[in-house]
Amino acid sequence: MIILECVVVKFKSTRKFPTKGITFHNPLLRLIFRFHKIEIKQSDYLWREIMSSLTDTKTIRKRARKDLEEGAVTPDYKLDKNEVVKMLNGALATEIVCVLRYRFHYFMASGINKEGAAAEFIQHSNEEQGHADLIAERIKQLGGKPEMDPAKIAAASHSEYVEGNSLEDMLREDLIAERIAIQTYREMVDYFGEKDPTTRRLIETILAVEEEHADDIADLLFTTKNA
Ligand SMILES: [Fe+2]
Ligand SMILES: [Fe+2]
Repeated sequence: MIILECVVVKFKSTRKFPTKGITFHNPLLRLIFRFHKIEIKQSDYLWREIMSSLTDTKTIRKRARKDLEEGAVTPDYKLDKNEVVKMLNGALATEIVCVLRYRFHYFMASGINKEGAAAEFIQHSNEEQGHADLIAERIKQLGGKPEMDPAKIAAASHSEYVEGNSLEDMLREDLIAERIAIQTYREMVDYFGEKDPTTRRLIETILAVEEEHADDIADLLFTTKNA
């Protein structure tokens, strides 16, 4: 009923009605068209328009049934899926490297600010693992394979795994890694834009946390340097 009303309103506004050679039989349509003061002889044209819109629905359903192995990726996905999976695997590798680097720093932190720094390191490590999991899940949704082969992770990561000799070294390396992640994620947000809003929102959420990490580490670095 609502669809019919919409169609009638649409055609009233465009005034594109044929006026000859049309037969009308449907009483429901007759009632609606009388209410809108549209002549009955125009109704078949409108009925054919309604049917063609139903055909569109059928096409959408048919497409959804096709290529089921593509999962969440429908034919209207606007980006190159393989390129997206490769990009996300780069982000996944970066997160995994960050998990390991922060974990190493948690165990190896020393010096006067050891307690505060270690607490921050383990929290960041756990949050980076959460990011890795979210990215891996999205890769899977897109029909790709999350790359977790240790032999490939270091090469695919945007940031390097640097241990650092002192607490100040560690914090400096962490800050560099966070800044690399922030820049990369900002570029990814622009890339996904409106073409893949789900992945864009995911990366925006992670980006906000990386900015908090960078802020925390910058404060600790300042305190450690001036201790
Ligand atoms: Fe992260
Ligand atoms: Fe981070």
